[in-house]
Amino acid sequence: MTGGDGLQSLLVDGGKRLFGEVQISGSKNAVLPMLAATVLFKEPCCIQSVPNLTDVDAAVDILTYLGAKVERSGGSLCVDPRPIWRWDIPDELMNRMRGSVFFAGALMARMGKCRLTQPGGCPLGKRPVNFHIDGLMALGARADTLDDQIYSGHLVGTEIILPYPSVGATENLILAGVGAEGMTTIHNAAREPEICCLCDFLRAGGCRISGDGTRCIRVMGGLPDSSRMQVIPDRMEAATFACAVASAGGDILLRNVQPLHFAPVLSVLERAGCSVYYRNDQVRVQAEELVSPGRVVTAPYPGFPTDAQAPIMAALLRAKGTTIIDETVFSDRMNHIEGFRTMGAQVERIGNCAWIHGVQKLHGGTVTAQDLRGGAALTVAALAAQGKTTILGLRHILRGYEDFALKLRSLGADVQQA
Ligand code: EPU
Repeated sequence: MTGGDGLQSLLVDGGKRLFGEVQISGSKNAVLPMLAATVLFKEPCCIQSVPNLTDVDAAVDILTYLGAKVERSGGSLCVDPRPIWRWDIPDELMNRMRGSVFFAGALMARMGKCRLTQPGGCPLGKRPVNFHIDGLMALGARADTLDDQIYSGHLVGTEIILPYPSVGATENLILAGVGAEGMTTIHNAAREPEICCLCDFLRAGGCRISGDGTRCIRVMGGLPDSSRMQVIPDRMEAATFACAVASAGGDILLRNVQPLHFAPVLSVLERAGCSVYYRNDQVRVQAEELVSPGRVVTAPYPGFPTDAQAPIMAALLRAKGTTIIDETVFSDRMNHIEGFRTMGAQVERIGNCAWIHGVQKLHGGTVTAQDLRGGAALTVAALAAQGKTTILGLRHILRGYEDFALKLRSLGADVQQA
């Protein structure tokens, strides 16, 4: 069966508890800026634990279009950026994902020129790129055309104050700063682990960057030589599986995780009654009946991640009492609620705030994924629902979850890709 948009669906026969172990893949949001960063290297570089995702395919297509040689074998991806000669990314490639925006900073740094148009990505409300453009202009980029699409200039390090700790703008400006003359300082920078992973990759190639993981990042200009690095585990995939067992009940072990990276999600699950055990790079989550953890408010790292807002809501649809969830990062990221209601959930929404009144049972139905995390969350809810659920719009989920159906099946869920 195919979805309403002509794409594939997930079929979930719910009501089965989850047991077993699941290996978490490399992080999508870490690998995308790293792939853009390969443009900066003087020599070939390799990235390991690269997840097999359509967003990664899109980044590889951009690199290939620019002229790079890309070799991919299993989870290893090597890029020879030396033959790169283009700087103009066409709209079709820009529109495939949000991560295409990172190439602007990297191309400005390497070629002194880039074309920056609105990138694609999930529809989460307004997602402007004004911080990216303002930062590049502060470094010396100038718009060459009246439509503000083509920028060029010689970059010179400066002090940049971000109006908000934007993850993407921080990453883009780190990449631009590597190609700028002298020191670039980014104040009010985002602190997400994916930013530290990008900086580690650049430092392994000889770049001088400090302060990542804090509010102030300093980048000394100078292109990297060569690098080989492993992508950090995907904290959002880990959080989603933790929410899945909380929703369906059971006892699972998450392998290859960095527990601190998704600690706020685990702490909400503990407040809701789950038992969580930590051990080095593993986390075990046991779940029976849940109670409301109270209020959950999303915030930039180290706050509760916006990417886990939909999965945690799914996990709490049957939690006893009323849970309140506030989305503060994106202006319109609660489109999954409609699907939850189709499954019998009682959720009220006013603006970016949702009141979830726990119900005893959810039932199957036909629902549509509107974005990546919302699609994963519908699956999390469907695992706990009695009967069959069809989740249309699987393409959203494939952008960010490697072998999602396969991994859920290995835990005992009845999930088929159709
Ligand atoms: N913002 C602006 N102007 C800008 C940039 C951002 O107003 O120039 C606003 C956004 O509209 C939003 C807020 O700032 O309201 C935060 O956006 P941010 O720039 O931090 O997000 P992003 O870089 O677009 C990345 C992830 C998202 C994740 C957010 C927040 C990637 C490719 N995407 O997006 O991941 O939700 O950070 O943590 O890294 C996902 O994986 O499902 C996903 C959406």
